[in-house]
Amino acid sequence: MERFIFVLGSNWQLSIAELDNYLKYSKYKGRIIDYSANIAIVEFKDLHLDPHYINKLMEIQFNLGGCQKISKIFDFIDINTIQEAFPTQMQNFKSVERTRKKISNIIENYIIGKNGIFPKVYESMFFAVSIYPNLYDDPYYSDILVKHFLPFLNKEIMEILKQKGAEKALYYQYPEKNIISGNLNPIFPHHLIKYDLLNENRAEIIFGFTEEGVYIARTFTTDDPNFKKKIDEERPYKEFKSSISPKLALIMLNFLNIFENRESKKILDPFVGNGTIALFAILQDFQIYSSDNDLKKVNNTIRNIHWLLDLLEEEIPPFTHQRVVKQDAKRLSNIFQPYFFDGICTEPEFGPFYTEKPYYLQAKEIIENELTPLYDGFFKEANKILKPSSRICFISPIISTIDGDDLQVNIENLANKNNFKLVPMLDLTRINSKYNQKLKFRKNQIKNLIDAKKGQIVKRKLYILEKK
Ligand SMILES: C[S@@+](CC[C@H](N)C(=O)[O-])C[C@H]1O[C@@H](n2cnc3c(N)ncnc32)[C@H](O)[C@@H]1O
Repeated sequence: MERFIFVLGSNWQLSIAELDNYLKYSKYKGRIIDYSANIAIVEFKDLHLDPHYINKLMEIQFNLGGCQKISKIFDFIDINTIQEAFPTQMQNFKSVERTRKKISNIIENYIIGKNGIFPKVYESMFFAVSIYPNLYDDPYYSDILVKHFLPFLNKEIMEILKQKGAEKALYYQYPEKNIISGNLNPIFPHHLIKYDLLNENRAEIIFGFTEEGVYIARTFTTDDPNFKKKIDEERPYKEFKSSISPKLALIMLNFLNIFENRESKKILDPFVGNGTIALFAILQDFQIYSSDNDLKKVNNTIRNIHWLLDLLEEEIPPFTHQRVVKQDAKRLSNIFQPYFFDGICTEPEFGPFYTEKPYYLQAKEIIENELTPLYDGFFKEANKILKPSSRICFISPIISTIDGDDLQVNIENLANKNNFKLVPMLDLTRINSKYNQKLKFRKNQIKNLIDAKKGQIVKRKLYILEKK
């Protein structure tokens, strides 16, 4: 059975939730059998039986927002063996030497061959070793893996390649300062593209750690961050302070659980702003409708959509003006038919943009008198225009205050009141538990997941609501 490493996005909990949902409901059925804060190990039900499965991995990569790259696993070494070969304190040289030899032999078995990391020997070969630790703040990573395991791997793999007949075998050298600081900054997707690491005679070889041990894999697909960045940054209208990231837009679209026939599915963003969700929905083949109560935003989104279609060299359909309209989200049913939409994906109005934390009472006023009635009115309308059992993926703010607790809208109440149920973002029965507290998912956590940077005043909280 083939297994794959999915290198997760920076919000690993959200990336795992997205991936598990994808593996559960899309046609590419599978399970996450192990994970860390950086990688998920995936076993597919039958994808690997297809001789062209790499094309399918590319499709999965294109759909997922929280996946940096996908790598095929060749072998696994348990954590005790690694710790014996690379102990924190050198006591027994003989056992260190013996176990390191064992690790070299394992690598040698898989390095070259029809089903190996490299399909055959080339005159000139190049590889980059990436180490993904269980958690980045683990001292075993900075003190041992970066300083001892990495140089060992580089040297061993280089020698094996030469012994097998490569005239030139080179490896990617991390900057000295990264080795000294104990943080490699692993090979990012744009490096994979820059160094041609998807070519046959070049490779990124991943050593991905979990609590159980290390998975050895070769990368086959990568995210194309330059393309996402181009759409996000070069579109004619963009407001950095109120826009979600392309990755989050993709993750939200996937939580709608619409994976088949996307081209015939109608989805709506009723607080469209400058259209981040709309643009990425077009790239994912959905029929996108959107609205906003600010005419300027409506025109910006239309302009952005035309710009994207032009970039994709696609014809501009005559109906964009009917599908992107000015409308209050509390009155959606005035313009859209009942049971019209297959899903709604949106980041609504959050209230004022804060450069400093507000006072508790100020934030409370916004939450109670502005946002709660707005979201309530929107959910009431959403219930009318959505098909039965379809979903809303919704972001709600958490506002930090100077003089009190964080404040937020009670989305669960509003959902129940308007004929929706909250759907957990992760099915805990499908995920094996971990010892490390930092890696555990808790039951009360998974009703929603937070997307935020450290110290952010307004954090984003993601919810999935399903029409009853
Ligand atoms: C946070 S922004 C959405 C930004 C969007 N996600 C993006 O990336 O560009 C919220 C949008 O909601 C719109 N809005 C505020 N109140 C509204 C209402 N009652 N009905 C519809 N749109 C509203 C604002 O004009 C604003 O464009």
